[in-house]
Amino acid sequence: MIQGMASIEVMKDVKSIKDIDLKDQRVLIRVDFNVPMDDDFNITDDTRIKEALPTINTCIDHGAKSVILVSHLGRPDGKRNPDFSLKHVLKRVERLLDRDVVFIDSLDEAKEASKDLCSSQVALLENIRYESGEESNDDEIAKKLSALCDVYVNDAFGTSHRKHSSTYGAAVHSKVKVAGLLLKKEIDSFSKALSNPQKPMLLIVGGAKVSSKLKLLKTIIGVVDRLIIGGAMSNTFLKALGYDMQNSLVEDDLVSEAEQIMEAAKSEGVKLYLPVDVVCTDNIKHPKVVKITTTQDIPEGLIAADIGPATTTLFREVIKESQTIIWNGPMGVYESDKFTRGTFHLAHSISDAYAYSVVGGGDTADAVDRAGEKDNMSFISTGGGASLELLEGKILPAFEVLERRK
Ligand code: 3PG
Repeated sequence: MIQGMASIEVMKDVKSIKDIDLKDQRVLIRVDFNVPMDDDFNITDDTRIKEALPTINTCIDHGAKSVILVSHLGRPDGKRNPDFSLKHVLKRVERLLDRDVVFIDSLDEAKEASKDLCSSQVALLENIRYESGEESNDDEIAKKLSALCDVYVNDAFGTSHRKHSSTYGAAVHSKVKVAGLLLKKEIDSFSKALSNPQKPMLLIVGGAKVSSKLKLLKTIIGVVDRLIIGGAMSNTFLKALGYDMQNSLVEDDLVSEAEQIMEAAKSEGVKLYLPVDVVCTDNIKHPKVVKITTTQDIPEGLIAADIGPATTTLFREVIKESQTIIWNGPMGVYESDKFTRGTFHLAHSISDAYAYSVVGGGDTADAVDRAGEKDNMSFISTGGGASLELLEGKILPAFEVLERRK
């Protein structure tokens, strides 16, 4: 077992719905139905809902008296706001479950409404973040939620790094508190990559900011054999090497941290790879100039927006030689047509590798999907922030509060 990753073993040990009797129980499941939607409230990716189905169906199949689903949607900041209503996801939940779902309009109405639920009926509670105390783990909200059930189930991996009333406090007040099947699947998949990885092990990090991944980089040096740093965050490392990054995004206050990480990698024998060429532009949103240059020769005033073809080839070779790959963060501004290639090529390279590959949620999962490689990764997490905190070696609050096997 890898040093610094003991937290995974602790989280792996939580009890799940498979360990308890669900018959005639009133079950409350904290799900993460925080799904992306377009301006007309059409769901653009329902993965999170689909991933919650095995847990919901298991409760129904094992004769639970009722199932109340609790989720947040967006960040309504404790106020009722129709833009964030879970009514927007109700139809999709009904369609995917192939049954009617009762909608409960507020936590205050839930007690009365839940009395009528029987014969494994499923209900969906309105956005729990309409309650102003939810995000501060208000005890009254937690008690109200736990009073709705005999069994509390957490299946919201995407929100498992939040210590909120519905993810933490409600479990504290519940006698029986276990993980759902998605929570289990997530932790088991990360465990496979982190606890006893096939070597060589490669971590690929990208995205805009070093600051958001600083803790991860510090934890993971000494765990991985190889480290690829791409995306805008690599600019800060390249600047630390003395390159002029022109108008590219650089976190100047983190240049010395970047130097220290490179030093630590060297002393731990971790091979670190940075972009050797980039696709640069005058303007990310409205590019008039798009050029491929080496990282040492970015023309005056331009911005690095993607990794270049030589880097793609270099990274491909590193990926090909790795047995375990963890990827978190795109290689460039992949949302913009001109700068998708680096990220998409990386997804293709991982898909072609004979390796166990784990992809962090959020942008990276979206990029893999757009690259058409969704089915070719070993595991894609439903959690963005949650998977990052897990990789940082933290015990996530949602797991911390559940019952353990030992
Ligand atoms: C997510 O989308 O990452 C989760 O649903 C958590 O959302 P939050 O960052 O608003 O807590």
